[in-house]
Amino acid sequence: MSNRVIPQDWHRYTAVEHATWDTLFARQVSMLATRVTPAFLEGLEVLRMSKPGIPDFEELSERLVRATGWSVVAVPGLIPDADFYDHLANRRFVAGRFIRPPEQLDYLQEPDVFHDVFGHVPLLVNPVFADYMQAYGRGGLRSMQYGSIHRLARLYWYTVEFGLIREGGGLKLYGAGIVSSNSESLFALDSDSPHRLGFDLKRVMQTKYRIDDFQQTYFVIDSFEDLLETTLETDFAPLYRELDSLPEIEISRILPSDRVITHGTQKYANDKRLNTSTSEDA
Ligand code: PHE
Ligand code: FE
Repeated sequence: MSNRVIPQDWHRYTAVEHATWDTLFARQVSMLATRVTPAFLEGLEVLRMSKPGIPDFEELSERLVRATGWSVVAVPGLIPDADFYDHLANRRFVAGRFIRPPEQLDYLQEPDVFHDVFGHVPLLVNPVFADYMQAYGRGGLRSMQYGSIHRLARLYWYTVEFGLIREGGGLKLYGAGIVSSNSESLFALDSDSPHRLGFDLKRVMQTKYRIDDFQQTYFVIDSFEDLLETTLETDFAPLYRELDSLPEIEISRILPSDRVITHGTQKYANDKRLNTSTSEDA
């Protein structure tokens, strides 16, 4: 029935693994208190995620199903795009079950259970974001027919993984890749280095991204309602076709048409010579 799903085998986690979760959890909760969208903190509450140890997906899913009909299932690392989209379209969030080793609290090559569950799941309690994720899954299946998965992947990257949101007169974090990372939680909001630009659907799908370090550009949405409405109401098929004839936008470019919120110095990337793009297309 559900593709590639495996048991979490929650009872197999060791004391050290649970302790790793607790360390990461405590560190992020205090880091995020003033930085993350209130919807995320509400999700932590509703899901009782402060309970010590790596969450048991069954217990977590019970609460999540009651809230928005989503559940969390374990998968063995990366799965084929079609399976991933199909899970989302059916309100199943797929999560890795392994946790990073204690000596690698900050550096991660593949997403682990802390990124997947702490980073992504709390926002699924928010009804609007929950609908967005499902719509994204349906859109993903559709994008395959147009050979445009990579365009849609950029939308995911710049919203679900690395999105910022305008809230209460300031900016807040909501992207899972940011909120599950201690250093990027600081960098994305406080650093002078990255650009912060108003979200624009077509622009985002034209823009490369980097997978090996902090983002050089973040896109800021006005609200989850806004994000859901824009993506639902836009037929992506003509957009995909149009994008095929438009140039890619490099990760640190600013265009005259951009709504610039912060014009970054790009010092971080320049110092590290991150300028030649190591992006998904490399
Ligand atoms: N409206 C999009 C399409 O026509 C589907 C979609 C919705 C994609 C929401 C992403 C997010 O394909
Ligand atoms: Fe993720």
